[in-house]
Amino acid sequence: MTALAEESVSETKLVRVLKGKAEVIPPVWLMRQAGRYLPEYRALRAKADDFLHLCYTPEMAAEITLQPIRRFEFDAAILFADILIVPDALGQGVRFDEGFGPRLDAMMPGELLKLLDPDKTHEKFRLICETVSRVREALPREKTLIGFCGAPWTVATYMIAGHGTPDQAPARIAAYRDRENFERLIDFLADVSVSYLVGQIQSGAQAVQIFDSWAGVLPDEEFERWVIAPTAKMVRSLKKICPDTPIIGFPRGAGTLSERFAEKTGVDAIGCDTAMPLTQMQTLGKSAAVQGNLDPLLLETGGPLLESRIHDIRIALSGVPHIFNLGHGILKTTPIEHVEQLVKQVRSSI
Ligand code: CP3
Repeated sequence: MTALAEESVSETKLVRVLKGKAEVIPPVWLMRQAGRYLPEYRALRAKADDFLHLCYTPEMAAEITLQPIRRFEFDAAILFADILIVPDALGQGVRFDEGFGPRLDAMMPGELLKLLDPDKTHEKFRLICETVSRVREALPREKTLIGFCGAPWTVATYMIAGHGTPDQAPARIAAYRDRENFERLIDFLADVSVSYLVGQIQSGAQAVQIFDSWAGVLPDEEFERWVIAPTAKMVRSLKKICPDTPIIGFPRGAGTLSERFAEKTGVDAIGCDTAMPLTQMQTLGKSAAVQGNLDPLLLETGGPLLESRIHDIRIALSGVPHIFNLGHGILKTTPIEHVEQLVKQVRSSI
């Protein structure tokens, strides 16, 4: 076999789409596909003291990453970890309290810059990378392994507030009051996140996603500064070190700023949230691959409305490099049969 033919055999369907090719049957995976809606996840979770312990135990994290692939045969596995591994590894302890979500010690950017230590990350990042290599070894060749991290802005919102908030006001205020330290913090997080992603790629991740779940709360100038600029910098650095690994950006809530995000960051694909019109996804799809954007609440509801929306998404995006996914993470109350129905329908002809 020629080197070229060999390369095309080893390129997975999802990677082909990320590189701009439209497929008749789009590849499909779901954000948060490993998690509490799966009984097999709940069984493992019940045995572990806490969620982070699962993330830092490669044997268990690899098993959880593979669970949804075995059950639904999705086209991609996403590493089981969390975006808050980065602050935890840097020395700002993170806890997950049942029913409350993440808790960190709230801090201003100046205090964080004094506390965070990149030298501390080695052991924890190593454990995450070990999960990646274990999964890659066990995963069928045609399935893609996706690595990920949180975007600097979204990670900083949790580091500053110390928990989730409805509008990320604490980080937005910190960015206005102490611009210099806030900028240094974002820059620092971008650099650490790049080395974290490079580690994942070198351990076997074939694509990476940068989750910017709180991109949508910022006015446009702030969006340029805290979402576009650091993401563009991360993409530039990653492309220098790992030029062949596609990058998916997920600037949730970016709305009309999505085009600017795509153009200025240079990501290979845009994750589209639930609120994005399919017509906008068609336009974006001319310059990047698009991923999304079924409403997780509709997947939970099921029935004929689910069926007709899946159909509409496929019709609207046929001929576009499209990855079928949700517009945000799957809900823990989602019935398994609805996920089975989704995969079956996405794989049937339209
Ligand atoms: O997608 C996957 O299956 C991979 C694993 C993954 C998790 N979190 C596991 C998880 C990924 C990619 C994430 C990303 C993440 N984490 C984001 C960005 C995407 C988004 O949803 O907006 C954010 C903002 C976080 C931070 C986070 N982690 C919160 C706010 C919470 C609490 C809310 C909740 O759903 O409980 C978590 C916990 C978390 N992360 C769980 C899982 C499976 C639940 C933990 C448990 O089992 O107790």
